[in-house]
Amino acid sequence: MTSSAAEETISSLKTEALEQLSAASDEAALESWRVEFMGRKGRLTGILRNLGSLESDERRAAGAAANRLKGELESAFEEQVAAGKRSGASGAAPDAIDVTLPGRRPRHGRLHPSTQVIREMLDAFNEMGFQTVEGNEVELERYNFDMLNIPADHPARDMQDTIWINRERDSIDGGVLLRTQTSPMQPRTMEQQDPPVRIVSPGKCFRTEATDATHEWQFHQVEGLAVDEGLSFADLKGTLYEFARRLFGADRKVRFRCDFFPFVEPGVDMSVDWNGRWVEILGAGMVHPQVLRNVGYDPEKYTGFAFGVGPERVAMLKYGIEDIRHFFSNDLRFLSQF
Ligand code: DAH
Repeated sequence: MTSSAAEETISSLKTEALEQLSAASDEAALESWRVEFMGRKGRLTGILRNLGSLESDERRAAGAAANRLKGELESAFEEQVAAGKRSGASGAAPDAIDVTLPGRRPRHGRLHPSTQVIREMLDAFNEMGFQTVEGNEVELERYNFDMLNIPADHPARDMQDTIWINRERDSIDGGVLLRTQTSPMQPRTMEQQDPPVRIVSPGKCFRTEATDATHEWQFHQVEGLAVDEGLSFADLKGTLYEFARRLFGADRKVRFRCDFFPFVEPGVDMSVDWNGRWVEILGAGMVHPQVLRNVGYDPEKYTGFAFGVGPERVAMLKYGIEDIRHFFSNDLRFLSQF
């Protein structure tokens, strides 16, 4: 190896190394470049090692050139590493984000239509003096049925096919279930306080329904209860008329018909006129004396009325929704219309 040959090798190594270094755009490429040229077994080290086989003059010249190259490559490498960090880990160029692009409107969330209607209903009842209380979705058989005058063998239980958590009746509380109605908040509230009672209780209910356009296995109810001395059916009607007026407007016709619910006597349902069609939106009635007795109230002294409204039914009427299953399908095309 002559001096000029050695220096030529060094200068072509420099060209090659710098070219490859400028193409190394990520950490992995930088590291393999470092190993190839600067590593212990790298190409520059190889040249430095071979200097010993040269004549002393040649060795001096080539050694100086090789050491200069080493310094140059080291600083070029550091510069390239720093440039990589400046442009971000992805290696994207710093101007990859076009700050002149026009902004987009952030997407607004909104309340679920059931929530909107429930709140509207609660507002109406709150203003009439009813206080909002909330119950549990997992409920005891005792409150969901027994205390409401629906004993274990009562055929009315067939109307509400129950999702059970635990069916065993090993105590007075009975089994554990997903509440089929919000009515358990009637006895739960009355047990806690003396009359007068005036509450509304919203919440989710569950039944093993075969689903169709008007039946869902999960839905909401808003329960209402008023107990005091001297409450009559006129109070029930007045309250529910006012509720209907608030939600559907003053001109909306409503009608009451006799219906049966074990915890009221007499029992009714209320329907709203919808384009010449009567649509039932709630059940109601005068609280059954047995329900009052169950919580230790004297039915000779106190009377009361109760009602249970289905907010999804109300929303379907208000907004012309034809299928109750939309409410729980989580489809933004539906939800974003409210
Ligand atoms: N909980 C009843 C149901 O799910 C609805 C109901 C009817 C509630 C009459 C009441 C009532 O409070 O008085 O079918």
